[in-house]
Amino acid sequence: MAAFIRVASTSSPTLLASTSSSFSIFTKLRSIPHLGFSFSVNTAATSGNRLLFCSRRGKRMAHTITKATLGLTHPVEIESPKISFAAKDINLMEWKGDILAIGVTEKDMIKDENSKFQNAVLKMLDSQLNGLLSEVSTEEDFTGRAGQSTVLRLSGLGTKRVSLVGLGKGPTGSSTCAYRSLGESVASAAKASQANNVAVALASSEGLTPELKLTTASAIATGALLGTYEDNRFKSESKKLALKSVDFLGLGTGPELEKKLKYTEDICAGVILGKELVNAPPNVLTPEVLANEAKKIASTYSDVFTASILDTEQCKELKMGSYLGVAAASANPPKFIHLCYKPPSGSVKTKLALVGKGLTFDSGGYNIKTGPGCLIELMKFDMGGSAAVLGAAKALGQIKPAGVEVHFIVAACENMISGTGMRPGDILTASNGKTIEVNNTDAEGRLTLADALVYACNQGVDKIVDLATLTGACIVALGPSIAGIFTPSDDLAKEVVAASEVAGEKLWRLPMEESYWESMKSGVADMVNTGGRQGGSITAALFLKQFVDENVQWLHIDMAGPVWNDKKKTATGFAIPTLVEWVVANSS
Ligand code: BES
Ligand code: MN
Ligand code: ZN
Repeated sequence: MAAFIRVASTSSPTLLASTSSSFSIFTKLRSIPHLGFSFSVNTAATSGNRLLFCSRRGKRMAHTITKATLGLTHPVEIESPKISFAAKDINLMEWKGDILAIGVTEKDMIKDENSKFQNAVLKMLDSQLNGLLSEVSTEEDFTGRAGQSTVLRLSGLGTKRVSLVGLGKGPTGSSTCAYRSLGESVASAAKASQANNVAVALASSEGLTPELKLTTASAIATGALLGTYEDNRFKSESKKLALKSVDFLGLGTGPELEKKLKYTEDICAGVILGKELVNAPPNVLTPEVLANEAKKIASTYSDVFTASILDTEQCKELKMGSYLGVAAASANPPKFIHLCYKPPSGSVKTKLALVGKGLTFDSGGYNIKTGPGCLIELMKFDMGGSAAVLGAAKALGQIKPAGVEVHFIVAACENMISGTGMRPGDILTASNGKTIEVNNTDAEGRLTLADALVYACNQGVDKIVDLATLTGACIVALGPSIAGIFTPSDDLAKEVVAASEVAGEKLWRLPMEESYWESMKSGVADMVNTGGRQGGSITAALFLKQFVDENVQWLHIDMAGPVWNDKKKTATGFAIPTLVEWVVANSS
Protein backbone atom coordinates (compact mmCIF):
# COMPACT_ATOMS: atom_id res chain seq x y z
CA MET A 1 0.00 0.00 0.00
CA ALA A 2 1.36 3.39 -0.87
CA ALA A 3 -0.09 6.85 -0.96
CA PHE A 4 1.26 9.25 -3.52
CA ILE A 5 1.07 12.94 -3.92
CA ARG A 6 2.46 14.53 -7.00
CA VAL A 7 2.55 18.25 -6.80
CA ALA A 8 3.16 20.08 -9.99
CA SER A 9 2.88 23.79 -10.48
CA THR A 10 3.53 26.14 -13.31
CA SER A 11 6.35 27.83 -11.46
CA SER A 12 8.40 25.01 -9.95
CA PRO A 13 9.53 21.48 -10.64
CA THR A 14 7.53 18.36 -9.90
CA LEU A 15 7.67 16.69 -6.54
CA LEU A 16 6.88 13.07 -6.04
CA ALA A 17 6.27 11.84 -2.54
CA SER A 18 5.26 8.42 -1.45
CA THR A 19 4.48 6.78 1.82
CA SER A 20 5.35 3.20 2.33
CA SER A 21 2.99 0.42 3.24
CA SER A 22 1.51 0.70 6.67
CA PHE A 23 0.07 -2.74 6.97
CA SER A 24 2.28 -5.34 5.39
CA ILE A 25 2.77 -7.18 8.66
CA PHE A 26 -0.66 -8.64 8.77
CA THR A 27 -1.95 -8.17 5.30
CA LYS A 28 -1.67 -10.04 2.09
CA LEU A 29 -1.67 -8.39 -1.27
CA ARG A 30 -4.73 -8.36 -3.45
CA SER A 31 -3.87 -8.25 -7.10
CA ILE A 32 -5.28 -5.06 -8.59
CA PRO A 33 -4.09 -5.15 -12.19
CA HIS A 34 -5.15 -1.64 -13.19
CA LEU A 35 -2.98 -0.10 -10.49
CA GLY A 36 0.14 -2.12 -10.88
CA PHE A 37 1.46 -1.36 -7.40
CA SER A 38 4.60 -2.94 -6.14
CA PHE A 39 4.49 -6.48 -4.83
CA SER A 40 7.21 -6.05 -2.26
CA VAL A 41 6.33 -7.40 1.14
CA ASN A 42 8.19 -6.06 4.12
CA THR A 43 8.96 -8.83 6.54
CA ALA A 44 11.80 -7.06 8.30
CA ALA A 45 9.86 -6.30 11.44
CA THR A 46 8.47 -9.74 12.13
CA SER A 47 10.54 -12.82 12.52
CA GLY A 48 7.83 -15.46 12.41
CA ASN A 49 6.21 -14.40 9.16
CA ARG A 50 5.91 -16.73 6.25
CA LEU A 51 5.69 -15.38 2.75
CA LEU A 52 3.52 -17.52 0.60
CA PHE A 53 1.49 -17.44 -2.54
CA CYS A 54 -2.10 -18.43 -2.91
CA SER A 55 -4.62 -18.40 -5.61
CA ARG A 56 -7.83 -16.45 -5.30
CA ARG A 57 -10.10 -16.00 -8.28
CA GLY A 58 -7.32 -17.26 -10.48
CA LYS A 59 -4.77 -14.58 -9.61
CA ARG A 60 -1.42 -15.05 -7.91
CA MET A 61 -1.06 -13.17 -4.68
CA ALA A 62 1.52 -12.97 -1.95
CA HIS A 63 0.57 -12.72 1.67
CA THR A 64 2.25 -12.69 5.01
CA ILE A 65 0.83 -14.50 7.97
CA THR A 66 1.68 -13.34 11.44
CA LYS A 67 0.03 -16.34 13.01
CA ALA A 68 -3.01 -18.48 12.41
CA THR A 69 -5.89 -16.49 13.84
CA LEU A 70 -9.25 -17.54 15.17
CA GLY A 71 -11.60 -17.54 12.18
CA LEU A 72 -8.71 -17.95 9.74
CA THR A 73 -9.13 -14.34 8.62
CA HIS A 74 -6.19 -12.59 7.04
CA PRO A 75 -6.67 -9.06 5.75
CA VAL A 76 -6.01 -8.38 2.10
CA GLU A 77 -3.65 -5.52 1.41
CA ILE A 78 -5.61 -2.76 -0.23
CA GLU A 79 -4.56 0.25 -2.20
CA SER A 80 -4.20 3.58 -0.50
CA PRO A 81 -5.40 6.44 -2.61
CA LYS A 82 -2.64 7.57 -4.93
CA ILE A 83 -3.74 11.02 -5.94
CA SER A 84 -1.48 13.51 -7.63
CA PHE A 85 -2.20 17.06 -6.58
CA ALA A 86 -1.25 19.87 -8.93
CA ALA A 87 -1.61 23.60 -8.40
CA LYS A 88 -2.36 25.35 -11.67
CA ASP A 89 -2.57 28.93 -12.70
CA ILE A 90 -5.10 28.56 -15.51
CA ASN A 91 -8.60 29.85 -16.16
CA LEU A 92 -11.46 27.54 -15.18
CA MET A 93 -12.73 27.27 -18.73
CA GLU A 94 -9.36 26.14 -20.03
CA TRP A 95 -9.31 23.11 -17.73
CA LYS A 96 -9.95 19.75 -19.36
CA GLY A 97 -11.00 16.66 -17.41
CA ASP A 98 -13.85 14.78 -15.75
CA ILE A 99 -15.22 17.06 -13.04
CA LEU A 100 -14.77 20.77 -12.39
CA ALA A 101 -15.84 21.31 -8.76
CA ILE A 102 -16.50 24.82 -7.47
CA GLY A 103 -16.81 25.61 -3.79
CA VAL A 104 -19.48 28.27 -3.30
CA THR A 105 -20.62 30.17 -0.23
CA GLU A 106 -24.19 31.28 0.37
CA LYS A 107 -23.04 34.79 -0.50
CA ASP A 108 -21.56 33.62 -3.82
CA MET A 109 -24.97 32.19 -4.74
CA ILE A 110 -26.87 35.47 -4.34
CA LYS A 111 -28.53 36.49 -7.62
CA ASP A 112 -29.65 39.93 -8.81
CA GLU A 113 -33.20 40.91 -9.77
CA ASN A 114 -32.72 39.29 -13.21
CA SER A 115 -31.76 35.97 -11.62
CA LYS A 116 -28.12 36.47 -12.66
CA PHE A 117 -25.14 35.66 -10.45
CA GLN A 118 -23.20 38.59 -9.03
CA ASN A 119 -20.10 36.52 -8.30
CA ALA A 120 -17.68 36.95 -11.21
CA VAL A 121 -16.65 33.29 -11.48
CA LEU A 122 -20.22 31.98 -11.41
CA LYS A 123 -21.34 34.70 -13.80
CA MET A 124 -18.67 33.71 -16.31
CA LEU A 125 -19.38 29.99 -15.96
CA ASP A 126 -23.14 30.54 -16.24
CA SER A 127 -22.81 32.51 -19.45
CA GLN A 128 -20.60 29.76 -20.92
CA LEU A 129 -23.37 27.31 -20.00
CA ASN A 130 -26.16 29.52 -21.40
CA GLY A 131 -27.73 30.11 -18.01
CA LEU A 132 -27.91 26.41 -17.03
CA LEU A 133 -26.15 27.00 -13.73
CA SER A 134 -28.60 29.63 -12.48
CA GLU A 135 -31.53 27.57 -13.74
CA VAL A 136 -30.45 24.38 -12.02
CA SER A 137 -29.53 26.12 -8.78
CA THR A 138 -33.00 27.71 -8.62
CA GLU A 139 -34.77 24.45 -9.52
CA GLU A 140 -32.83 22.43 -6.96
CA ASP A 141 -32.92 25.23 -4.37
CA PHE A 142 -29.14 25.09 -4.22
CA THR A 143 -28.16 28.04 -2.05
CA GLY A 144 -24.60 27.09 -1.10
CA ARG A 145 -25.47 25.76 2.34
CA ALA A 146 -22.78 23.55 3.88
CA GLY A 147 -23.38 19.95 2.84
CA GLN A 148 -25.29 20.84 -0.35
CA SER A 149 -23.89 19.76 -3.70
CA THR A 150 -25.04 19.35 -7.25
CA VAL A 151 -23.47 17.85 -10.36
CA LEU A 152 -24.32 18.76 -13.98
CA ARG A 153 -23.44 16.49 -16.88
CA LEU A 154 -22.40 18.60 -19.86
CA SER A 155 -21.21 18.13 -23.38
CA GLY A 156 -19.11 20.23 -25.69
CA LEU A 157 -16.96 21.68 -22.91
CA GLY A 158 -13.44 20.84 -21.72
CA THR A 159 -14.94 19.33 -18.56
CA LYS A 160 -17.52 16.52 -18.61
CA ARG A 161 -19.19 17.64 -15.41
CA VAL A 162 -19.48 20.78 -13.32
CA SER A 163 -20.19 20.39 -9.63
CA LEU A 164 -21.19 23.10 -7.18
CA VAL A 165 -20.40 22.36 -3.55
CA GLY A 166 -21.86 24.45 -0.72
CA LEU A 167 -19.47 25.97 1.82
CA GLY A 168 -22.15 27.60 3.95
CA LYS A 169 -21.49 31.07 5.30
CA GLY A 170 -17.95 30.91 3.96
CA PRO A 171 -14.49 31.45 5.42
CA THR A 172 -14.78 32.21 9.12
CA GLY A 173 -12.28 31.60 11.93
CA SER A 174 -11.97 27.85 11.43
CA SER A 175 -13.01 26.87 7.93
CA THR A 176 -10.96 23.64 7.91
CA CYS A 177 -14.11 21.53 8.31
CA ALA A 178 -15.95 23.23 5.41
CA TYR A 179 -13.00 22.80 3.03
CA ARG A 180 -12.41 19.23 4.14
CA SER A 181 -16.06 18.48 3.32
CA LEU A 182 -15.51 20.10 -0.07
CA GLY A 183 -12.69 17.60 -0.66
CA GLU A 184 -14.94 14.76 0.54
CA SER A 185 -17.72 15.88 -1.86
CA VAL A 186 -15.19 15.88 -4.67
CA ALA A 187 -14.16 12.33 -3.72
CA SER A 188 -17.75 11.07 -3.64
CA ALA A 189 -18.64 12.80 -6.92
CA ALA A 190 -15.56 11.14 -8.45
CA LYS A 191 -16.64 7.76 -7.06
CA ALA A 192 -20.19 8.16 -8.39
CA SER A 193 -19.04 8.90 -11.94
CA GLN A 194 -15.75 6.91 -11.87
CA ALA A 195 -13.89 10.16 -12.59
CA ASN A 196 -10.11 10.00 -12.89
CA ASN A 197 -9.37 13.68 -12.70
CA VAL A 198 -10.96 16.57 -10.93
CA ALA A 199 -10.26 20.28 -10.65
CA VAL A 200 -11.24 22.27 -7.57
CA ALA A 201 -11.72 26.02 -7.44
CA LEU A 202 -13.48 28.47 -5.14
CA ALA A 203 -15.95 31.01 -6.48
CA SER A 204 -14.23 33.63 -4.32
CA SER A 205 -10.59 32.74 -3.79
CA GLU A 206 -9.16 36.18 -4.63
CA GLY A 207 -9.84 37.44 -1.11
CA LEU A 208 -7.78 34.69 0.54
CA THR A 209 -4.36 35.53 1.98
CA PRO A 210 -1.46 33.31 0.80
CA GLU A 211 -1.53 31.60 4.23
CA LEU A 212 -5.26 30.86 3.90
CA LYS A 213 -4.76 29.52 0.39
CA LEU A 214 -2.27 26.99 1.82
CA THR A 215 -4.57 25.81 4.60
CA THR A 216 -7.52 25.71 2.20
CA ALA A 217 -5.69 23.56 -0.34
CA SER A 218 -4.49 21.34 2.51
CA ALA A 219 -8.00 20.84 3.90
CA ILE A 220 -9.42 20.08 0.43
CA ALA A 221 -6.60 17.60 -0.23
CA THR A 222 -7.26 15.90 3.14
CA GLY A 223 -10.96 15.52 2.29
CA ALA A 224 -10.19 14.19 -1.19
CA LEU A 225 -7.61 11.67 0.05
CA LEU A 226 -9.53 10.37 3.05
CA GLY A 227 -12.84 10.50 1.15
CA THR A 228 -11.36 8.37 -1.62
CA TYR A 229 -9.93 5.81 0.81
CA GLU A 230 -12.02 2.73 1.59
CA ASP A 231 -11.00 0.02 4.03
CA ASN A 232 -11.83 -3.13 2.09
CA ARG A 233 -9.18 -5.38 3.66
CA PHE A 234 -11.77 -7.74 5.07
CA LYS A 235 -14.02 -7.94 2.02
CA SER A 236 -13.57 -10.65 -0.55
CA GLU A 237 -14.23 -8.16 -3.36
CA SER A 238 -13.40 -4.49 -3.59
CA LYS A 239 -14.15 -1.71 -6.01
CA LYS A 240 -11.32 0.07 -7.76
CA LEU A 241 -10.46 3.64 -6.84
CA ALA A 242 -10.87 5.88 -9.86
CA LEU A 243 -9.63 9.28 -8.69
CA LYS A 244 -6.05 9.84 -9.83
CA SER A 245 -5.51 13.58 -9.90
CA VAL A 246 -6.82 16.74 -8.30
CA ASP A 247 -5.88 20.12 -9.77
CA PHE A 248 -6.18 23.23 -7.62
CA LEU A 249 -7.17 26.30 -9.61
CA GLY A 250 -6.74 29.77 -8.14
CA LEU A 251 -5.12 28.67 -4.88
CA GLY A 252 -1.61 29.72 -5.83
CA THR A 253 1.40 27.69 -6.95
CA GLY A 254 4.96 27.18 -5.78
CA PRO A 255 7.21 25.37 -3.30
CA GLU A 256 5.34 26.48 -0.16
CA LEU A 257 2.17 24.87 -1.43
CA GLU A 258 4.08 21.74 -2.43
CA LYS A 259 5.56 21.48 1.06
CA LYS A 260 2.16 21.94 2.64
CA LEU A 261 0.61 19.24 0.46
CA LYS A 262 3.42 16.81 1.26
CA TYR A 263 2.86 17.49 4.99
CA THR A 264 -0.88 16.96 4.49
CA GLU A 265 -0.24 13.66 2.78
CA ASP A 266 2.05 12.53 5.64
CA ILE A 267 -0.73 13.23 8.14
CA CYS A 268 -3.28 11.40 5.96
CA ALA A 269 -0.99 8.36 5.81
CA GLY A 270 -1.00 8.39 9.63
CA VAL A 271 -4.79 8.75 9.72
CA ILE A 272 -5.19 5.80 7.33
CA LEU A 273 -2.95 3.64 9.53
CA GLY A 274 -4.99 4.69 12.57
CA LYS A 275 -8.27 3.81 10.85
CA GLU A 276 -6.95 0.42 9.76
CA LEU A 277 -5.73 -0.43 13.24
CA VAL A 278 -9.15 0.40 14.75
CA ASN A 279 -11.16 -1.31 11.98
CA ALA A 280 -9.16 -4.53 12.27
CA PRO A 281 -11.18 -7.11 14.23
CA PRO A 282 -9.91 -8.29 17.62
CA ASN A 283 -9.20 -11.82 16.38
CA VAL A 284 -6.70 -10.30 13.91
CA LEU A 285 -5.39 -7.29 15.82
CA THR A 286 -4.11 -8.86 19.05
CA PRO A 287 -1.68 -7.08 21.39
CA GLU A 288 1.17 -8.90 19.65
CA VAL A 289 0.08 -7.75 16.19
CA LEU A 290 -0.27 -4.18 17.49
CA ALA A 291 3.28 -4.42 18.85
CA ASN A 292 4.46 -5.70 15.47
CA GLU A 293 2.90 -2.66 13.82
CA ALA A 294 4.90 -0.44 16.17
CA LYS A 295 8.09 -2.35 15.30
CA LYS A 296 7.23 -1.90 11.65
CA ILE A 297 7.09 1.89 12.10
CA ALA A 298 10.48 1.77 13.83
CA SER A 299 12.04 -0.25 11.03
CA THR A 300 10.50 1.88 8.27
CA TYR A 301 11.80 5.11 9.85
CA SER A 302 14.88 3.65 11.52
CA ASP A 303 16.72 7.00 11.22
CA VAL A 304 14.46 8.51 13.89
CA PHE A 305 12.75 5.65 15.78
CA THR A 306 13.70 2.90 18.17
CA ALA A 307 11.17 0.38 19.47
CA SER A 308 11.12 -1.68 22.61
CA ILE A 309 8.39 -4.18 23.36
CA LEU A 310 8.12 -5.49 26.91
CA ASP A 311 6.61 -8.90 27.60
CA THR A 312 4.78 -10.07 30.73
CA GLU A 313 8.02 -10.92 32.60
CA GLN A 314 9.57 -7.53 31.88
CA CYS A 315 6.37 -5.76 32.98
CA LYS A 316 6.43 -7.81 36.19
CA GLU A 317 9.98 -6.62 36.84
CA LEU A 318 8.70 -3.07 36.47
CA LYS A 319 5.94 -3.91 39.00
CA MET A 320 3.09 -3.08 36.61
CA GLY A 321 0.48 -4.93 38.67
CA SER A 322 -2.37 -2.72 37.56
CA TYR A 323 -1.80 -3.33 33.83
CA LEU A 324 -1.04 -7.03 34.29
CA GLY A 325 -4.22 -7.45 36.33
CA VAL A 326 -6.28 -6.43 33.30
CA ALA A 327 -4.30 -8.72 30.99
CA ALA A 328 -4.51 -11.75 33.29
CA ALA A 329 -7.58 -13.47 31.77
CA SER A 330 -6.43 -13.40 28.15
CA ALA A 331 -4.87 -16.18 26.07
CA ASN A 332 -3.24 -13.40 24.02
CA PRO A 333 -0.32 -12.13 26.10
CA PRO A 334 0.06 -8.40 26.84
CA LYS A 335 2.67 -6.34 24.99
CA PHE A 336 3.93 -3.07 26.42
CA ILE A 337 4.91 -0.88 23.47
CA HIS A 338 7.48 1.91 23.65
CA LEU A 339 8.54 3.75 20.49
CA CYS A 340 11.04 6.56 20.86
CA TYR A 341 11.42 9.36 18.30
CA LYS A 342 14.62 11.39 18.23
CA PRO A 343 15.17 14.08 15.59
CA PRO A 344 17.64 13.20 12.82
CA SER A 345 20.01 16.01 13.90
CA GLY A 346 20.38 18.83 16.39
CA SER A 347 19.68 19.02 20.09
CA VAL A 348 16.46 18.16 21.88
CA LYS A 349 14.71 21.04 23.67
CA THR A 350 11.41 19.41 24.64
CA LYS A 351 10.53 15.86 25.62
CA LEU A 352 6.98 14.69 25.05
CA ALA A 353 5.05 11.49 25.61
CA LEU A 354 1.92 10.26 23.84
CA VAL A 355 0.22 7.48 25.79
CA GLY A 356 -2.65 5.52 24.21
CA LYS A 357 -5.16 3.09 25.68
CA GLY A 358 -4.61 -0.18 23.83
CA LEU A 359 -7.38 -2.61 24.71
CA THR A 360 -7.58 -4.74 21.58
CA PHE A 361 -10.86 -6.02 23.00
CA ASP A 362 -12.87 -5.06 26.07
CA SER A 363 -15.44 -7.66 27.12
CA GLY A 364 -15.81 -5.93 30.48
CA GLY A 365 -14.27 -8.90 32.28
CA TYR A 366 -16.39 -10.41 35.11
CA ASN A 367 -18.40 -7.17 34.98
CA ILE A 368 -19.22 -8.31 31.47
CA LYS A 369 -20.81 -5.87 29.05
CA THR A 370 -24.42 -6.98 28.65
CA GLY A 371 -27.66 -5.58 27.37
CA PRO A 372 -28.56 -3.42 24.41
CA GLY A 373 -26.36 -0.38 23.93
CA CYS A 374 -23.35 -1.82 25.78
CA LEU A 375 -21.55 -1.97 22.39
CA ILE A 376 -19.58 -5.12 23.24
CA GLU A 377 -19.52 -5.98 19.51
CA LEU A 378 -17.68 -2.70 18.85
CA MET A 379 -15.10 -3.07 21.60
CA LYS A 380 -12.36 -3.69 19.04
CA PHE A 381 -12.23 0.12 18.94
CA ASP A 382 -11.05 0.20 22.55
CA MET A 383 -7.50 0.55 21.24
CA GLY A 384 -8.42 3.84 19.47
CA GLY A 385 -6.05 5.79 21.74
CA SER A 386 -3.15 3.55 20.77
CA ALA A 387 -4.13 3.80 17.10
CA ALA A 388 -3.94 7.59 17.41
CA VAL A 389 -0.51 7.31 19.02
CA LEU A 390 0.85 4.96 16.32
CA GLY A 391 -0.82 6.90 13.49
CA ALA A 392 0.86 10.06 14.76
CA ALA A 393 4.16 8.18 15.03
CA LYS A 394 3.97 7.14 11.39
CA ALA A 395 3.20 10.69 10.24
CA LEU A 396 6.01 12.12 12.39
CA GLY A 397 8.41 9.50 11.04
CA GLN A 398 7.86 11.12 7.67
CA ILE A 399 7.73 14.75 8.82
CA LYS A 400 10.80 14.42 11.12
CA PRO A 401 10.37 17.54 13.30
CA ALA A 402 13.51 19.01 14.92
CA GLY A 403 14.26 19.76 18.57
CA VAL A 404 11.69 17.42 20.05
CA GLU A 405 11.92 13.90 21.51
CA VAL A 406 8.67 11.93 21.57
CA HIS A 407 7.85 8.74 23.47
CA PHE A 408 4.92 6.70 22.13
CA ILE A 409 3.63 4.38 24.84
CA VAL A 410 0.90 1.72 24.77
CA ALA A 411 0.13 -0.89 27.43
CA ALA A 412 -1.63 -3.24 25.01
CA CYS A 413 -3.80 -6.12 26.22
CA GLU A 414 -7.25 -7.69 26.13
CA ASN A 415 -9.91 -7.52 28.86
CA MET A 416 -11.32 -11.05 28.90
CA ILE A 417 -12.89 -13.56 31.27
CA SER A 418 -11.26 -16.76 32.53
CA GLY A 419 -10.19 -18.56 35.67
CA THR A 420 -6.91 -16.65 35.65
CA GLY A 421 -8.59 -13.24 35.35
CA MET A 422 -8.94 -10.54 37.99
CA ARG A 423 -12.09 -10.60 40.10
CA PRO A 424 -14.20 -7.70 41.30
CA GLY A 425 -12.79 -7.06 44.75
CA ASP A 426 -9.18 -7.90 43.89
CA ILE A 427 -6.54 -5.37 44.93
CA LEU A 428 -3.86 -4.48 42.37
CA THR A 429 -0.58 -2.69 43.04
CA ALA A 430 0.59 -0.27 40.37
CA SER A 431 4.21 0.48 39.50
CA ASN A 432 4.25 3.66 41.61
CA GLY A 433 3.29 1.56 44.65
CA LYS A 434 -0.33 2.74 44.86
CA THR A 435 -2.97 0.09 45.56
CA ILE A 436 -6.30 -0.17 43.73
CA GLU A 437 -9.39 -2.10 44.77
CA VAL A 438 -11.06 -3.23 41.54
CA ASN A 439 -14.74 -2.61 42.21
CA ASN A 440 -15.52 -2.94 38.49
CA THR A 441 -13.45 -4.98 36.03
CA ASP A 442 -14.98 -2.98 33.16
CA ALA A 443 -13.13 0.15 34.27
CA GLU A 444 -9.98 -1.48 32.88
CA GLY A 445 -8.62 1.26 30.61
CA ARG A 446 -7.56 3.43 33.55
CA LEU A 447 -5.81 0.42 35.14
CA THR A 448 -3.65 -0.08 32.05
CA LEU A 449 -3.04 3.68 31.68
CA ALA A 450 -1.94 3.92 35.33
CA ASP A 451 1.23 1.90 34.70
CA ALA A 452 1.72 3.45 31.25
CA LEU A 453 1.63 6.97 32.78
CA VAL A 454 4.12 6.00 35.53
CA TYR A 455 6.41 4.60 32.80
CA ALA A 456 6.02 7.80 30.71
CA CYS A 457 6.98 9.97 33.70
CA ASN A 458 10.07 7.79 34.22
CA GLN A 459 11.24 8.75 30.71
CA GLY A 460 11.87 12.26 32.03
CA VAL A 461 9.36 13.95 29.76
CA ASP A 462 8.12 17.55 30.14
CA LYS A 463 4.58 16.96 28.87
CA ILE A 464 2.26 13.99 28.43
CA VAL A 465 -0.91 13.68 26.38
CA ASP A 466 -2.86 10.47 26.91
CA LEU A 467 -5.70 9.31 24.70
CA ALA A 468 -8.34 6.75 25.57
CA THR A 469 -11.77 5.45 24.71
CA LEU A 470 -12.22 5.66 28.45
CA THR A 471 -15.84 6.25 29.40
CA GLY A 472 -19.31 5.86 27.97
CA ALA A 473 -20.12 8.85 30.19
CA CYS A 474 -18.06 11.09 27.92
CA ILE A 475 -20.30 10.15 24.98
CA VAL A 476 -23.34 10.99 27.09
CA ALA A 477 -21.79 14.37 27.95
CA LEU A 478 -20.41 15.47 24.57
CA GLY A 479 -22.04 13.23 21.96
CA PRO A 480 -20.32 11.19 19.26
CA SER A 481 -18.06 13.78 17.63
CA ILE A 482 -16.47 15.80 20.45
CA ALA A 483 -13.70 14.49 22.69
CA GLY A 484 -13.39 15.56 26.32
CA ILE A 485 -10.08 16.91 27.58
CA PHE A 486 -8.97 17.04 31.20
CA THR A 487 -5.85 18.71 32.57
CA PRO A 488 -4.69 20.66 35.60
CA SER A 489 -2.55 22.80 33.24
CA ASP A 490 -4.16 25.80 31.53
CA ASP A 491 -1.03 26.17 29.36
CA LEU A 492 -1.20 22.61 28.03
CA ALA A 493 -4.96 22.94 27.47
CA LYS A 494 -4.29 26.02 25.33
CA GLU A 495 -1.56 24.23 23.33
CA VAL A 496 -3.65 21.16 22.59
CA VAL A 497 -6.80 23.15 21.79
CA ALA A 498 -4.79 25.33 19.39
CA ALA A 499 -3.45 22.19 17.68
CA SER A 500 -6.96 20.77 17.38
CA GLU A 501 -8.19 23.97 15.74
CA VAL A 502 -5.46 23.79 13.11
CA ALA A 503 -6.34 20.12 12.59
CA GLY A 504 -10.09 20.75 12.44
CA GLU A 505 -10.93 18.34 15.28
CA LYS A 506 -13.32 19.04 18.15
CA LEU A 507 -12.22 18.99 21.79
CA TRP A 508 -13.99 20.37 24.86
CA ARG A 509 -12.36 20.89 28.25
CA LEU A 510 -14.16 19.37 31.23
CA PRO A 511 -13.33 20.11 34.87
CA MET A 512 -11.16 18.00 37.17
CA GLU A 513 -13.39 18.55 40.17
CA GLU A 514 -11.26 17.41 43.13
CA SER A 515 -14.25 17.04 45.46
CA TYR A 516 -15.47 14.14 43.30
CA TRP A 517 -12.45 12.11 44.45
CA GLU A 518 -14.55 11.30 47.51
CA SER A 519 -16.36 8.57 45.54
CA MET A 520 -13.05 6.91 44.61
CA LYS A 521 -12.05 6.12 48.21
CA SER A 522 -11.65 2.49 49.28
CA GLY A 523 -11.95 0.99 52.75
CA VAL A 524 -9.03 -1.36 52.18
CA ALA A 525 -6.82 0.09 49.40
CA ASP A 526 -5.59 3.54 48.32
CA MET A 527 -8.50 3.90 45.92
CA VAL A 528 -11.18 2.02 43.98
CA ASN A 529 -11.20 2.10 40.20
CA THR A 530 -14.83 3.20 39.74
CA GLY A 531 -16.73 6.02 41.37
CA GLY A 532 -20.28 5.40 40.24
CA ARG A 533 -22.39 6.79 37.42
CA GLN A 534 -22.32 10.50 38.13
CA GLY A 535 -19.47 12.46 36.54
CA GLY A 536 -17.93 9.19 35.36
CA SER A 537 -15.49 10.83 32.94
CA ILE A 538 -14.28 13.23 35.62
CA THR A 539 -13.63 10.54 38.25
CA ALA A 540 -11.80 8.53 35.56
CA ALA A 541 -9.54 11.54 34.88
CA LEU A 542 -8.97 12.05 38.62
CA PHE A 543 -7.94 8.39 38.83
CA LEU A 544 -5.34 8.85 36.06
CA LYS A 545 -3.95 11.92 37.87
CA GLN A 546 -2.84 9.62 40.73
CA PHE A 547 -0.20 8.18 38.40
CA VAL A 548 1.30 11.37 36.97
CA ASP A 549 4.24 13.24 38.59
CA GLU A 550 3.23 16.68 39.81
CA ASN A 551 6.05 18.35 37.86
CA VAL A 552 5.00 16.87 34.51
CA GLN A 553 2.36 18.72 32.48
CA TRP A 554 -0.34 16.23 31.59
CA LEU A 555 -3.54 16.24 29.53
CA HIS A 556 -6.03 13.40 29.10
CA ILE A 557 -8.24 13.03 26.00
CA ASP A 558 -11.38 10.88 26.36
CA MET A 559 -12.20 9.97 22.75
CA ALA A 560 -14.85 7.29 23.39
CA GLY A 561 -17.27 9.16 21.09
CA PRO A 562 -15.19 10.32 18.13
CA VAL A 563 -13.17 7.10 17.67
CA TRP A 564 -15.96 5.59 15.61
CA ASN A 565 -18.34 6.82 12.89
CA ASP A 566 -21.60 5.02 13.56
CA LYS A 567 -23.25 6.06 10.28
CA LYS A 568 -20.35 4.96 8.12
CA LYS A 569 -19.57 1.97 10.38
CA THR A 570 -15.88 2.77 10.32
CA ALA A 571 -13.05 4.20 12.38
CA THR A 572 -12.37 7.92 12.09
CA GLY A 573 -8.62 8.17 12.73
CA PHE A 574 -9.53 10.78 15.35
CA ALA A 575 -6.83 12.82 17.12
CA ILE A 576 -3.97 11.91 14.76
CA PRO A 577 -3.95 15.33 13.00
CA THR A 578 -4.18 17.10 16.38
CA LEU A 579 -1.29 15.09 17.86
CA VAL A 580 0.92 15.78 14.85
CA GLU A 581 0.16 19.51 14.99
CA TRP A 582 0.88 19.54 18.74
CA VAL A 583 4.25 17.81 18.36
CA VAL A 584 5.18 20.08 15.43
CA ALA A 585 4.20 23.14 17.51
CA ASN A 586 6.61 21.86 20.21
CA SER A 587 9.45 21.42 17.72
CA SER A 588 12.08 24.03 16.96
N1 BES B 1 -14.09 1.01 26.79
C1 BES B 1 -15.06 1.40 27.73
C2 BES B 1 -15.61 2.80 27.47
C3 BES B 1 -16.54 2.92 26.30
C4 BES B 1 -17.86 2.56 26.42
C5 BES B 1 -16.08 3.44 25.11
C6 BES B 1 -18.71 2.72 25.34
C7 BES B 1 -16.93 3.61 24.03
C8 BES B 1 -18.24 3.22 24.15
C9 BES B 1 -14.48 1.40 29.12
O1 BES B 1 -13.50 0.43 29.38
C10 BES B 1 -15.60 1.11 30.04
O2 BES B 1 -16.11 0.04 30.01
N2 BES B 1 -15.95 2.09 30.85
C11 BES B 1 -17.01 1.96 31.76
C12 BES B 1 -16.58 2.53 33.07
C13 BES B 1 -17.52 2.22 34.19
C14 BES B 1 -17.46 0.78 34.54
C15 BES B 1 -17.10 3.06 35.37
C16 BES B 1 -18.22 2.70 31.19
O3 BES B 1 -18.05 3.76 30.58
O4 BES B 1 -19.32 2.19 31.31
MN1 MN C 1 -14.34 -1.45 29.96
ZN1 ZN D 1 -12.42 -0.19 27.75
